[in-house]
Amino acid sequence: MSSNVVWHSHPVDQETRAKQKSQRPLVIWFTGLSASGKSTIAGALEQILTRQGYHTYLLDGDNVRHGLCKDLGFGDADRQENIRRVGEVSKLMADSGLIVLAAFISPFRADRRIVREILPEGQFVEVFIDAPLNVCRERDPKGLYAKAERGEIRQFTGIDSPYETPEHAEVRIQAGEVSVAAAVNQLLDYLHQADALHGGYEPVELEA
Ligand code: ADX
Repeated sequence: MSSNVVWHSHPVDQETRAKQKSQRPLVIWFTGLSASGKSTIAGALEQILTRQGYHTYLLDGDNVRHGLCKDLGFGDADRQENIRRVGEVSKLMADSGLIVLAAFISPFRADRRIVREILPEGQFVEVFIDAPLNVCRERDPKGLYAKAERGEIRQFTGIDSPYETPEHAEVRIQAGEVSVAAAVNQLLDYLHQADALHGGYEPVELEA
C-alpha cells in the first residue's frame, strides 16, 4: 500500500449502523471440507435469523468464485488470496452493521486467524463443520471427490490438498451425526450465550 494513502474516518460508523439495525454485527465463519454441510447449515441459520428480524448476508465459496474470486484456482496461494479477499469483504459487511455468514473451506489456520485478527474484538465466530472425510466422500453431491480420486481434479481438499482442523473454534458441529435443524439450534444457542442476539431468538422446531 502506498504511504500516501491515509485512512479517512467518516461520521457514520459501525455503531451507528448497528444501532439502526438493532443488532450486533458479527462474522460467523464456517470452515470444513467440501460437502461437510457448511453452505446448507449457514443457509438454514440465515433463513431463521432473517425471519426473526436480523439483517444478514451469506458469502458462499462456490458463489463468490463465480465473481469476485473467479480469477483464483485451488493452489495454496490462490486459496490464501481467496480467504484474504472474502475476509476483507466480510469485514466491510460487518462494518455496515450486518451479521455475515461466510462459508468457505478455508483450509489453512493462518488464513482464518488473519480474518479473526482484522475484525474488531469479539466479532468473529469460527464454526467448524466437522464431518469426517469418508462421510463427505460418500455424500459427494457434485461428484468432485470421485473426479479427484480419478485424478481428474488436482489439489482437492482432503485428497491431495491439506485441511487444517481448527484448534480454537467457538463452535464445533458434528455434521456427520446431527440434523441441519439441530446444527442451527446449536448455533442459535451459542449466539444467544455469547450475547449476540439482542433481538431475541426462537429455537427451530426439531422433527420428531
Ligand atoms: S477455499 O479452499 O478457497 O476456501 P472455497 O470454499 O472458496 O475453497 O471453494 C470450495 C468449492 O469449490 C468446493 O465446495 C467445491 O465445490 C469447489 N472445488 C472445485 N475444485 C476444488 C478443489 N480442488 N478443492 C476444493 N474444492 C474445490
